[in-house]
Amino acid sequence: MPLIYSYPLKSGMPLLLSTIAMALMTSTALAQSNAEKSGHNDEAASFQTSAFGRMPDGRQVDLYHFTNANGIELKVINYGGIIVSLKTPNVEGEFDDIVLGFDSLETYLSEEYRQANPYFGAIIGRYGNRIANGEFSLNGDTYTLATNDGDNHLHGGDKGFDKVLWEAEPFENEDGSGLVLRYTSEDGEEGYPGKLETQVTYTLTDDDELEVEYQATTNKATPVNLTQHSYFNLKGEGSDTILDHQLMINADAFTPVNESLIPTGELRSVEGTPFDFTQPTPIGERIEQDNEQLSFGGGYDHNFVLARDNAASDELVLAAKVWEPQSGRMVEVSTTEPGIQFYSGNFLDGSLTGKQGQSYEHRSGFALETQHYPDSPNQEAFPSTILEPGETYRSRTVYRFAAQKAFGS
Ligand code: GLA
Repeated sequence: MPLIYSYPLKSGMPLLLSTIAMALMTSTALAQSNAEKSGHNDEAASFQTSAFGRMPDGRQVDLYHFTNANGIELKVINYGGIIVSLKTPNVEGEFDDIVLGFDSLETYLSEEYRQANPYFGAIIGRYGNRIANGEFSLNGDTYTLATNDGDNHLHGGDKGFDKVLWEAEPFENEDGSGLVLRYTSEDGEEGYPGKLETQVTYTLTDDDELEVEYQATTNKATPVNLTQHSYFNLKGEGSDTILDHQLMINADAFTPVNESLIPTGELRSVEGTPFDFTQPTPIGERIEQDNEQLSFGGGYDHNFVLARDNAASDELVLAAKVWEPQSGRMVEVSTTEPGIQFYSGNFLDGSLTGKQGQSYEHRSGFALETQHYPDSPNQEAFPSTILEPGETYRSRTVYRFAAQKAFGS
């Protein structure tokens, strides 16, 4: 075995060393090394399954625990496809949990949590974000959806994909390990037309990426807009606000909203506004500015129009990058989607207590939800979200994690 493979790529190893080791591997060598890993070498990407709790009707909810070759750990449950924990190293190689969440099913099912409804870590569907007045017309029929956000429909309704039990199948392959989740949303569920067969695949790769692939088919035309609602705090969840995190969003425009957060239909240039994140900027730098859009959102809660430069719709394009100066942790988001909702955790108010006993304070986590634009079923000029029978909805987002001494390195 070549010397390079004897580097112990595991938890606690300084990231720099592991990065150098990874960089030294040629792609052939990497494939060879991965083949060895699937042979159950100790340093291989791996998974474990355990019981997480029971639904009120007695069905068991499982926890899937994945570890990659560099010690990154991901925990997912099949209730809501929720990412309950994600541990990545800082520049010193120390691991921390960087997503908000809980370690018991009871908390996710509690009335208190349902009232607050932050959608921590969950898969969102059938439609991510809002549909105005819970209504849309399609092929001459008008459909009425659950209104669970004032007069509007939000994140799939009263019982969206974040609150259902998914069938789950863990796997290991040459890229890493992960989980295939499947859910059938019946015709008429939450008011939507068509039986939707949905599949979401999480893969934690040995390249320190979390890949999320979405697929769906339907038997009647229906809107579909799936996303992932993890709240990140790169300093470690429960520790502080996210206001000093530096953010870059690859967007020259955003979709301004009215006071109930429904897009007006305009694509507005970010230039000269607090929405210009084309250069890395601390999230908190302009968040308190006197700005109508910021006041509507109580901070950032807006869809950005990604600069895709005519990339094909199945091509990944860099959407956003966030770096936290104290820990050096970085997350980079690439997607096939045309938009991304940047939400600065404005509705968090300290009333929820997280995994380590800390309360989740105002703006102590941010979400970057890759998506089609909100309210597209009512906005002809926006890219269509209608899936027809015979077509397959496909969407892909990759989160890459690293630790580095500066934003750009
Ligand atoms: C999205 C919405 C927000 C809010 C959060 C969860 O980002 O746009 O308004 O619902 O989800 O609280």
